[in-house]
Amino acid sequence: MMKAIIFDLDGVIVSTDHYHYRAWKDIADREGVPFDENRNVLLRGVSREKSLEILLELAPRPYLAEEKAKLAEEKNGIYRRLLQELTPDDILPGVLKWIEHAKEKGLRTAIGSSSKNTDFILERIGLSETFDTVVTGADVTRSKPAPDIFLLAAERLGVEPGDCWVVEDAPAGIEAAKSAGMKTIGVGEYVKDVAPDRWSLTLGEAEL
Ligand code: G1P
Ligand code: MG
Repeated sequence: MMKAIIFDLDGVIVSTDHYHYRAWKDIADREGVPFDENRNVLLRGVSREKSLEILLELAPRPYLAEEKAKLAEEKNGIYRRLLQELTPDDILPGVLKWIEHAKEKGLRTAIGSSSKNTDFILERIGLSETFDTVVTGADVTRSKPAPDIFLLAAERLGVEPGDCWVVEDAPAGIEAAKSAGMKTIGVGEYVKDVAPDRWSLTLGEAEL
């Protein structure tokens, strides 16, 4: 029997894509790296460092480790300033009902996100106290697509990985959940190739 549901944050609970995009675009323009909304999609779900690696694949020159660390930090500074605009109104449609529904069904709930800004975002949207546990990229060394974030969430909830649902919008997240041995619910068009059975379901339609 399913005992828990682990929600990804960015793209599932709240859409932060555009804020990430604006911040990365600032950095990319300054460095002369081609970057657009389509490239931005490739950064979904993976860590900040990996996101920068992907962005710099099109850079005209190689970067030293220190330069990369500085760019990642600068991007985060811009992103954090933009996140000040977030409010509870930015919670995606249907999400609150879904969490409520899961709780009514007796499922334990968790957030499993690669983002090191998770606590800040949950605070901005008023969901800091909503989940039984919150696991982020700051708690593990290997971010998605490694299974570590989800496995730690299951461990903290005291449930077996096979008894967990994972709700994800990113291919890297679906891969992480699958390697953790969990059942996946994909939301949004970007996961349609990796979770074709579920991807088009709105959260309210899936049988928990
Ligand atoms: C990181 C990445 C971002 C990715 C996000 C997933 O967020 O930078 O590309 O989409 O995780 O939730 P950050 O730790 O920078 O907030
Ligand atoms: Mg996501």
